Amino acid sequence: MRTYLVTGGAGFIGSNYINYMFKKYDNEIRIINVDVLTYAGNLENLRDVEDRDNYTFIRADICDRDAINKIFEENDIDRVVHFAAESHVDRSIVNPEVFVQTNVLGTATMLNAAKKAWELPDGSFKEGKKFLHVSTDEVYGSLDDDPNAYFYETTPYAPHSPYSASKASSDMLVKAYMDTYKFPANITNCSNNYGPYQFPEKLIPLHIHNALAGKELPVYGDGKNVRDWLYVEDHAKAIDMVQEKGRLFETYNVGGHNEKQNIEIVKIIIDTLKEELDDSDPRKANLSYDLIKYISDRKGHDRRYAIAPDKIKAEIGWEPETMFAEGIKKTIKWYLNNTEWMEHVTSGDYEKYYEKMYSNR
Ligand code: NAD
Ligand code: DAU
Repeated sequence: MRTYLVTGGAGFIGSNYINYMFKKYDNEIRIINVDVLTYAGNLENLRDVEDRDNYTFIRADICDRDAINKIFEENDIDRVVHFAAESHVDRSIVNPEVFVQTNVLGTATMLNAAKKAWELPDGSFKEGKKFLHVSTDEVYGSLDDDPNAYFYETTPYAPHSPYSASKASSDMLVKAYMDTYKFPANITNCSNNYGPYQFPEKLIPLHIHNALAGKELPVYGDGKNVRDWLYVEDHAKAIDMVQEKGRLFETYNVGGHNEKQNIEIVKIIIDTLKEELDDSDPRKANLSYDLIKYISDRKGHDRRYAIAPDKIKAEIGWEPETMFAEGIKKTIKWYLNNTEWMEHVTSGDYEKYYEKMYSNR
């Protein structure tokens, strides 16, 4: 049975990936989820799989060399899928250091541990071992409003935020291991994900949460920044397909071909919530575009991201499957049906974070 070590599996994309993998492979695989459980890690995301005999959770920091080496020593790991990271751009602007720590040094620790476990005395690697580093399109910097400009795998790196700089650094480390040691790895650079279990600091879940509470919907700058939105399960599938069918040492860009201005997204959220809520639901009365509040822009705000997923389509046959109209409906229904999940993550410290980040803008 193939054994996967998934880092950051209690976060948004990691938990969707684990849920997807068990739906697809059931008892054919084993997954060890290594997560330190920062504010963004939530084991409630894994309730559907936590009792499986072929699933193990280990609470550990990816920067803890001894803990990570021990996991490799005690388990014959075949695949690593490395999600664990600090992932929120706004937090990176306020507190960059932890991004360097986790995203750069943590990735170095993971690479070293896998190399140590998988390397043979002649410097080659055991058959079939693979490391997938999950990265972002933000490493490529920002595109202007020209609708024909896209990020390709060959686009030079030009990160702007401390978050994207730390992800670019971690990508470079993975590339260095591939070039220097022929370390068996791939990198995927993906656009903005949305779907269930996303922490409500990111645009879509934050605005769903605020709209339902009748709170203001903060829009940065002119609201015309563009992101390329991908349903999270399509990303999970892409990661699996890259490990199954991709060429080792290659980078694959993953994107939704679904560019939208932020203000469009906010209006779609309001409109969809209105459609989904019963007239008798008191939360419906608050829903209107009047909730939208333009606030000061994010520092260094990238204007536009857009991925051309041509390579992954041509080589692997992956394409985004979930149309945005369908995906956003599914997502909103999920948040409406999981209010308890939202209450748990928004209580306590998160409310203090919200006050701190938004009160003076
Ligand atoms: P997330 O913030 O929801 O989850 C991150 C997870 O990593 C959490 O469970 C957290 O507890 C864990 N973690 C953080 N520091 C850790 C440490 N030191 N040791 C062990 N675990 C730690 O993030 P996400 O949105 O699910 O993103 C996952 C990955 O995908 C990240 O590498 C991110 O850069 C990348 N990515 C995200 C998006 C997106 O739209 N969210 C798009 C492209 C790429
Ligand atoms: O592109 C991939 C990246 O997408 C990932 O690498 C990151 O981990 C992920 O967080 C996401 O980064 P963004 O900065 O694009 O996502 P965020 O949801 O924070 O913001 C999306 C856009 O919406 C961005 O232009 C900023 C804007 N925004 C965001 C928030 C939270 C607002 O206008 N108001 C808000 O309240």
